[in-house]
Amino acid sequence: MKKLKRNILLNPGPATTTDTVKYAQVVPDICPREKEFCEVMNYVSSELTRLVADIEEYTTVLFGGSGTAAVEAVLSSVANDGVIIIINNGVYGERMCEIAEAYRLDWVEFQSPNDCAVNLKELHEFILNFPRKVSYLAVVHNETTTGLLNDIEIIGEICREQNIQMIVDAMSSFAAIPIQMKKMNISYLIASSNKNLQGMAGLSFVIAKKIELLKQKELQPANYYLNLYAQYQYFIKTGQMRFTPPVQTIYALKQAIIELKKEGIEERYKRYSMLWEMLVAGLSRLGLKHLILKNNHSKIITAIKEPDCAAYDFNHMHDYFYENGVTIYPGKLNNLKSFRIANIGDLSSDDMELFLTLLEKYLQKIGCYSRKDLNQNGEN
Ligand SMILES: Cc1ncc(COP(=O)(O)O)c(C=O)c1O
Repeated sequence: MKKLKRNILLNPGPATTTDTVKYAQVVPDICPREKEFCEVMNYVSSELTRLVADIEEYTTVLFGGSGTAAVEAVLSSVANDGVIIIINNGVYGERMCEIAEAYRLDWVEFQSPNDCAVNLKELHEFILNFPRKVSYLAVVHNETTTGLLNDIEIIGEICREQNIQMIVDAMSSFAAIPIQMKKMNISYLIASSNKNLQGMAGLSFVIAKKIELLKQKELQPANYYLNLYAQYQYFIKTGQMRFTPPVQTIYALKQAIIELKKEGIEERYKRYSMLWEMLVAGLSRLGLKHLILKNNHSKIITAIKEPDCAAYDFNHMHDYFYENGVTIYPGKLNNLKSFRIANIGDLSSDDMELFLTLLEKYLQKIGCYSRKDLNQNGEN
């Protein structure tokens, strides 16, 4: 197997993959309606479920499309028989609000600051005092805007108490932060192939509680391609997806799942957390501050405040890193100048060291940092 050029992706997915995952895409041409391919999809679907739940009670519905497709599939497929509360504390919470609005759902936003934990007491009171029936609550697990980790376990308890079905966008936490759907009271969990799973882009999925999913049988569909129940039913009956699947991405995902099972989710998260500790220690050494406090941090993606220095320009810094084989990512916060570094994918401590060395060199080059600053840096 020829070794491929390795790029270090520090954007929040698609992440750096192993060569074995890349090469798993190179397969003989196959019609996706063949039994041989259905077996690959069946493996992928059931193994994804097993990562977070019991396959007797939960099932995974696959969609060709990026992560947003699966978020849209859930929101546009569930019953419109009561209010959906959407927790909005970042760009991806905001996106769920936009989807709900596009489908004219009965929805309401629970706004929360994007740099600190949701006030759970206020959320509880908001739900208790809501004048109409609340059917669903949707929340992003790891807000990729900042790295803020929402406490889905406690939010799940509130939902259990109030008989609300919880929808979790776990796009940037799935396969790294351990999740147990039943214990956490999650009815629908959403993720995609190309972040912590370390697979290729092109497949998204919904892991659903079967009892809830089956209730959708009675509903008048409000969507077509993204209809969750229709996609589920078709897969159960035929072992196929309704429409053309991203064939090679699914082969790569099978390999990525094999590699994940070998590493283990907890070990993967330990590796990511170790990289994150290196990252924040290095940032602090360079006098840079990150936005989210450690207690509320996912340790997966970090929003970093831009250096206060006239010569700093994100695009210029991006190009410097890119020329050196490292991809970094812009910020997504309107009110704060930031850039983002993700520490997911097939990365090692050498990669993080390289990033920090390049960052120091770059800041020195543009006159933002000198070694004598070392003693003056404050803690984050
Ligand atoms: C939490 C979250 N939700 C949704 C998405 C959208 O996924 P995609 O860009 O694959 O559509 C992302 C992408 O980064 C995300 O981090």
